[in-house]
Amino acid sequence: MNIVILAAGQGKRMRSTLPKVLHPIAGRPMLEHVLTSAKALEGDHQTILVLGHGGEFVQEFLSKAAFQVKTALQSEQKGTGHAVLQACDQLSDDPVTLILYGDVPLIQTETLEQLTRLAKSGGLGLLTQNMANPTGYGRILRNQDGDVSGIVEEKDASAEIRQITEINTGFMALPTEKLKHWLKQLKPNNAQGEYYLTDVIALAVAEGVPVYTTQAKNDWETVGVNSRAQLADLERVWQRELANRLLEAGVTLLDPSRIDIRGELQCGTDVQIDIGCVFEGKVVLGSGVSVGPHCVIKDAVIDANVKIQAFTHIDQATVGAGSVIGPYARLRPGTVLAEEVHVGNFVEIKNSDVGSHSKANHLAYVGDATIGKKVNIGAGTITCNYDGVNKHRTIIEDEAFIGSDTQLVAPVTVGKGATLGAGTTLTKDAPANQLTVTRVKQISLNWQRPTKKSK
Ligand code: UD1
Ligand code: CA
Repeated sequence: MNIVILAAGQGKRMRSTLPKVLHPIAGRPMLEHVLTSAKALEGDHQTILVLGHGGEFVQEFLSKAAFQVKTALQSEQKGTGHAVLQACDQLSDDPVTLILYGDVPLIQTETLEQLTRLAKSGGLGLLTQNMANPTGYGRILRNQDGDVSGIVEEKDASAEIRQITEINTGFMALPTEKLKHWLKQLKPNNAQGEYYLTDVIALAVAEGVPVYTTQAKNDWETVGVNSRAQLADLERVWQRELANRLLEAGVTLLDPSRIDIRGELQCGTDVQIDIGCVFEGKVVLGSGVSVGPHCVIKDAVIDANVKIQAFTHIDQATVGAGSVIGPYARLRPGTVLAEEVHVGNFVEIKNSDVGSHSKANHLAYVGDATIGKKVNIGAGTITCNYDGVNKHRTIIEDEAFIGSDTQLVAPVTVGKGATLGAGTTLTKDAPANQLTVTRVKQISLNWQRPTKKSK
């Protein structure tokens, strides 16, 4: 099969230097959504993307993305028929050609399969929709038998035709050889002076090629984006759809209209997610995990029964089963927590392993550290991992107790069961099982507070 994706339009109403098809829905360019749905189609297919405005940005996106796509250039936008014509030379002999749109991002593979099946018998498959307000769309004409006889664009339509509520979504599956032949016959004799792809329908009918129609399961699949407002609306629609899928899979969402998934969120059983959370990249939440309000979680694996409390930020980290994180905790890339770890408010952990049952409950920075089991890290503890040029590692062995307001000047090791007194600045290794403390001796003096001078 040939898949032609039209993406040459300027998207003037976006008022952006970024081509319209690269604007994101759920964190991924609209074009990527279309390419993903197309890629999942059964059988062999080649994809030809018709580029125009901002084509170089789209090429750049393609060079980084994992899609096998050919491109065709439409340097002047003379209509949808003219756009498909630019891909004509690259169409293979495969019997079916499917037409998609880079700015209609939410089309589902299932619908495209449905449409393709209609064209496999040599006919033309058309995706239509019934709309209460069909203003702006091409209208589907049918004869007395109910068979499609053509499409009339809004701007070319009589008042009577404008009453028709069945519209052309633009998605079509056509017999390739016929398509090539029809495209060459298109003429721009219409209100917009454009080469309309939709005119191929009347040509097909004239040649006795049957036109079959089908409809998408969901209205949002065929919604196109022309402005930032429409983009924002479609984002909400898609987020609600993703939320519905989670609900169906058994996830509790305290408010399904207040969650944002910009990637892939995989959940075990009985997961609960409070409002205002953002999930990015690939996130796995194990069974029994609860996520408090307003957390941002990106590329992370959270094991079973972890409790993530409000306003926590997790990026490229792994959290072991039964751990409690937050509120206001930050786990940065390379953090690996074992089971039953507690990380409390205003604790930042980066590129560190933390053993099971260890705790850092308040106000600490742990960077480039290896922390054993049952370690207690007091409030105000800081690993001084950076000397201004290089990063160094801090090792804290099992059952060590780090007193409050301690600085560990790396590289440094705290032995098993060692205790560091509050306020210690550790520059040399602390031996196991001993108390190490660096502190000026406490003194008390007689002291008279100054009194306020009278004027
Ligand atoms: C088109 C259909 C109309 C349908 C509507 C659905 C035609 C003639 N009309 O109308 O029946 O109801 O879509 O939204 O096909 N494009 C190019 N190059 C061009 C022109 C368009 O690549 O020269 C691309 C645009 O980027 C866009 C798509 O084709 O992705 C549709 O173009 P647009 O001008 O929005 O079509 P409509 O006039 O809305
Ligand atoms: Ca147009």
